[in-house]
Amino acid sequence: MTGFPIAPLVEGKTGFGLYVFANPALASEADLEEFKRLLFIHSVLVFRHETLTGGSFTPKQQLDLTAAFGSAPTGIYGHGAGKKQEKSILHPDLVTLPTVPQVQLIGNGLVTEPHHGVPPGTRLNHPHHRTFHRTRVSDEDDVKGVTRFYRWHIDAALYALYPPIVTTLHAIKLPPPSTQLLRYDDGSNDELNVSIGTTAFISGATAFDILTPAQKSLVVRGYIKYAPHPYVWMGPAKSRPTGLGMESEGLELSLGENEDGTGGGGGPGEVPEWSEDKVMVFPMVWKNPVTRKLHLQIHPSAIHSIIIDPLPQSPTPFPIDTLYPTGAKITDLKEARDLVYSLQRAGIAPDLVYAHDWQEGDVCLFHNRGVLHSVVGAFPKETVRMFHQCNLAGSEAPAGPEDADLELFCHY
Ligand SMILES: [Fe+2]
Repeated sequence: MTGFPIAPLVEGKTGFGLYVFANPALASEADLEEFKRLLFIHSVLVFRHETLTGGSFTPKQQLDLTAAFGSAPTGIYGHGAGKKQEKSILHPDLVTLPTVPQVQLIGNGLVTEPHHGVPPGTRLNHPHHRTFHRTRVSDEDDVKGVTRFYRWHIDAALYALYPPIVTTLHAIKLPPPSTQLLRYDDGSNDELNVSIGTTAFISGATAFDILTPAQKSLVVRGYIKYAPHPYVWMGPAKSRPTGLGMESEGLELSLGENEDGTGGGGGPGEVPEWSEDKVMVFPMVWKNPVTRKLHLQIHPSAIHSIIIDPLPQSPTPFPIDTLYPTGAKITDLKEARDLVYSLQRAGIAPDLVYAHDWQEGDVCLFHNRGVLHSVVGAFPKETVRMFHQCNLAGSEAPAGPEDADLELFCHY
């Protein structure tokens, strides 16, 4: 299979995303190399092909395609293998396929037929923002189809495992198409018309490009320390109305920090056991291996604290409005979250969002280290929708900015 047709996902400002009209299950080694190159350049690839409908793209083929983009030698799911953390906020939304445990069944409604080892009677839950946001749209507006971004994120455990490079989604079964009105509800009047149950993406490269020069100088020197077991830790806390990070009300579980760099224990109000050597600290911006561009890649709801390096040594003076020129450690959770929000909010502006209009059979690959994405929309309990999702923990930490980037973006 060579010379497959491609086309932009949308014409317009978002500037990323590509349709690939091919069956990825038939890809040769050369094709896979081309898919990789295209993914790193275009961030989101949607394979749309008549052979992908009707369940003919198997979970094993999806796993193989996902693995072709690289993973840790263990080849485990991006959130880990084995028993799920019952208290994790991700737990209710993911059903592991017993036959291929790296692939998750996600969606909505009741599974009525045996499905790759998942028994009939299993209930799928498309998350509604009412369970995660501090505020919610009114019942009246909810009925009219008003919705929000659920949670902007990177697919990553952010504790003990490195973030997956790619996530693959295969649309198995969809309800009839309809639209919803997505509101930001943050006082901005921003809104978007979206297909029901869309997946929304923004480019981390664009999110970096539109920062001010002073913000760019900050983010190339910035690191995020993520909370241990972040999805358990944030459990009682609530999201901002944009789904872009959390409100700071002191509701997070206790980390139970000990002086020897361990903590937790899973007691009441406490996260499970953890140790400092498994805590993840990643640069705020990640370097694209093909385009060499920088992507602003922060999982906003899992932030614990921020570390900012001082300006690098240089014979040339730095601009006087440089932020944190001597570096900083921001350990106040609200301050850290507010700073990240000020960096990320512009990147989710309506005309920068690509909201995919799913068709049955679509196989979507997204560069998980190059975009942020969000579940969107709400379905009645009885509406059936099924997707297979797969990602694999990465073998190493994402690459951050290089010395030349520091030089370029700190001298603006
Ligand atoms: Fe996700």
